[in-house]
Amino acid sequence: MTEIQITRTTKPQTPPPDETLSFGNVFSDHMFMLNYDEGKGWHSPRIVPYQNFSLDPATCVLHYGQAIFDGLKAYRGSDGRIRIFRANENAKRLNRSARQLCIPEIDTALIEESIRALVEVDQHWVPKAPGTSLYIRPTIIATERFLGVHPSKSYIYYVIVGPVGAYYKEGMNPVKIMASDKYVRAVKGGLGAAKAAANYAASLYGAEEAKKAGYTQVLWLDGVEHKYLDEVGTMNIMVRIGDEIVTPPLNGAILAGITRDSVLTLLRDWGLKVSERPISIDEVIAAAKSGNLEMWGTGTAAVISPVGELGYKGERYVINGGKTGELTRKLYDTLIGIQYGTGPDPHGWTRLLGNRVGG
Ligand code: COI
Repeated sequence: MTEIQITRTTKPQTPPPDETLSFGNVFSDHMFMLNYDEGKGWHSPRIVPYQNFSLDPATCVLHYGQAIFDGLKAYRGSDGRIRIFRANENAKRLNRSARQLCIPEIDTALIEESIRALVEVDQHWVPKAPGTSLYIRPTIIATERFLGVHPSKSYIYYVIVGPVGAYYKEGMNPVKIMASDKYVRAVKGGLGAAKAAANYAASLYGAEEAKKAGYTQVLWLDGVEHKYLDEVGTMNIMVRIGDEIVTPPLNGAILAGITRDSVLTLLRDWGLKVSERPISIDEVIAAAKSGNLEMWGTGTAAVISPVGELGYKGERYVINGGKTGELTRKLYDTLIGIQYGTGPDPHGWTRLLGNRVGG
């Protein structure tokens, strides 16, 4: 693999105290960069001091949104060692997103190595306090300077990292979500399954309305009938109705969450009945009314997030008495145990820093 050039900052900052961390507003001293040019391919892998980009105002990503990203975390365990969770899956997903947006793919081993090498250089930025971690954001933007609509001939892949606490202000307390019968995030055949910047832009307007109504997030329904659950945008959604655990299938309109996959694997390991099937908002509301419902979201940033209230068509439905359900708690504890190295990792999902990719 091509050598990664490392240029260290001459002005290192001091990471903030762990207890001040929220999500996504603090970044470390360095970043990883890689360029693509037509005829040359991906080239010049390097770690450089964290810095601004200089972009021509006609740079195509600013006009047509040819941009994708991914998200994963590194955790400092109580043993002081740093673990990166399922980076190989994020690397594969970044390339799936790239294909959908006509962006040239990157060797997955190089993506994994870019992440590992950056976390190694900035390892003192991985926080220690329970519930904190180093969030890792690999991103690709189209950089050709032109105003015609076509795939760019040049790109930058970069990775930034920063220490984070809980994504939602509620922390591990149940969040309130509102199912939207008015706005849609994505439809089959569109970009919904890609981690495209455009999907997040599409979610903003509906999310602001939900916030005004007192909800944390929108529960997006399918884009055709506005009837079946899709996802929450910042997390995939799961419910337990009686003894069946249900999550929407990967139907092309929702993101293939890596936490989603991890949770489904754990649930199946435990011998529980798991269905990836379309589930309607009416079925969920009927279960909420009968008191037979537990609901949670899964995501890298969101971890396992209990849902305590569901809004739909102006009505509010309290779920599981507004409290974190037993299964939700067990999933959270098990996943956190794997990520921080305090519990067994039977599927080998974490890679200790110091163990190179392929090593
Ligand atoms: C993640 O969980 O990593 C995400 O990308 C969701 C969100 C912060 C946009």
